[in-house]
Amino acid sequence: MSEFSVRAVAEGEQRACLDLLSESLHGKAPTDEAWAKMAPSWPAAGKFAAFDEHGTPVGIASSIDVELTVPGGQKLATAAVDGVGVRADWTRRGILTAMMAVQLEDLAARGVPLAALHASEAVIYGRFGYGAATFCKGVSVERPRARLRDGVGRDGVVRFVTPAEAVERVPALYNRFEGTRPGFVARPVNWWPGFFDRVVTGTDGYRVAIHSGPDGDDGFVVYQTIDARDRQAPERGAILDIRDFHAATPQAWAGLWRFLLSVDLVSAVAGRGRPLDEPIAELLTDPRAVNTTEVIDDLWLRLIDVPAALRARAYGAAGPVVLEVLDQQLPDNNGRYVVGPDGVERTTAEADLRLDVATLSSLYLGHGLFGDLALSGRAEVLNESAVARADALFHTARSPWCGTFF
Ligand SMILES: CC(C)(COP(=O)(O)OP(=O)(O)OC[C@H]1O[C@@H](n2cnc3c(N)ncnc32)[C@H](O)[C@@H]1OP(=O)(O)O)[C@@H](O)C(=O)NCCC(=O)NCCS
Repeated sequence: MSEFSVRAVAEGEQRACLDLLSESLHGKAPTDEAWAKMAPSWPAAGKFAAFDEHGTPVGIASSIDVELTVPGGQKLATAAVDGVGVRADWTRRGILTAMMAVQLEDLAARGVPLAALHASEAVIYGRFGYGAATFCKGVSVERPRARLRDGVGRDGVVRFVTPAEAVERVPALYNRFEGTRPGFVARPVNWWPGFFDRVVTGTDGYRVAIHSGPDGDDGFVVYQTIDARDRQAPERGAILDIRDFHAATPQAWAGLWRFLLSVDLVSAVAGRGRPLDEPIAELLTDPRAVNTTEVIDDLWLRLIDVPAALRARAYGAAGPVVLEVLDQQLPDNNGRYVVGPDGVERTTAEADLRLDVATLSSLYLGHGLFGDLALSGRAEVLNESAVARADALFHTARSPWCGTFF
């Protein structure tokens, strides 16, 4: 069996790494022209790769630095792990395991308290301390049935912008939004070219609409229409498919839904990756017009610095609990913590609940309940009366949601 070694990607090695990543994800390697556009947003920094004995990259794990909103509103430095792949003829030899170990050590050494990713498969990252921390849903709203209730406001206007205007305006607009939900990610400058600009300036017919309220622009939606008409069912209109939709206020959000549901020749307004508790049905006279098409894990989180992360978030009103945390990869996190609204401290007191870092990471943003995870042994209950307190401390009123793919 051939050997591999893992190290930081050096300047000039990025393109070979991207070719390998594209291949591992069954995509096409970028053309010279595409690479020329992408190169500035694909720096060597933040990338680790596995190389074979000839120096050819056979695995990669990258990350970009973002900020993530945690319960209570604080924004924490977070490594958004975004390009992970191993060449198909090198898988299941421990390459990902080795890359994850190097990446976690690097993040810990740099003092980055959180790492987050979107997983291609849900079985991969738990072993590295990641837990599914936000979930999202797919929705499809039957437009002919979807009438808005009279009380839905009309406080703003919606206008289309050209692709060039969208590229210029939307990043500044998005970055003005305060994270209204835990899990919200501030998108860095090098996120936009690959995930937004390429889409809205491409040839797939995406439209960008901006909502303006009393204080100016306060929301946007990116969508395309997919023609679903056929000769057998000519009354069926297109599917309006939402790709990116964020609003600064509930009024802007409702105004954008009003607009989406008003587009003619559309039979359904659909979107994936929407917040679990997005209250679309509450806008409508017939709530059954809204169909949930899927519920799926969204953001996987990994607490890199457990005490710093625990101290950064706010807690619900309940008495403190003592958590005993187990972390195989980053043993500095091991220990007991007393967690409550008045603060978080290391302690030698008896633990109420014992859990590994992946389970704690799952619960950290406010989704899920300690008792539910205890059912499958992911949390060990040492003091039954602490479970309800722990849930009251960690659970958030709004579902955590990321809403940004990386
Ligand atoms: C997922 C991927 C990165 C795993 O890389 P790898 O080098 O094969 O992983 P490792 O050899 O370090 O595997 C570590 C463990 O995870 C398990 N594992 C890894 N990928 C798995 C998968 N897709 N399904 C189930 N188990 C998996 C391995 O079986 C191994 O288990 P073990 O320790 O009990 O033997 C690789 O298969 C890949 O590139 N897949 C296609 C692209 C992709 O999905 N990338 C992830 C994007 S988020």
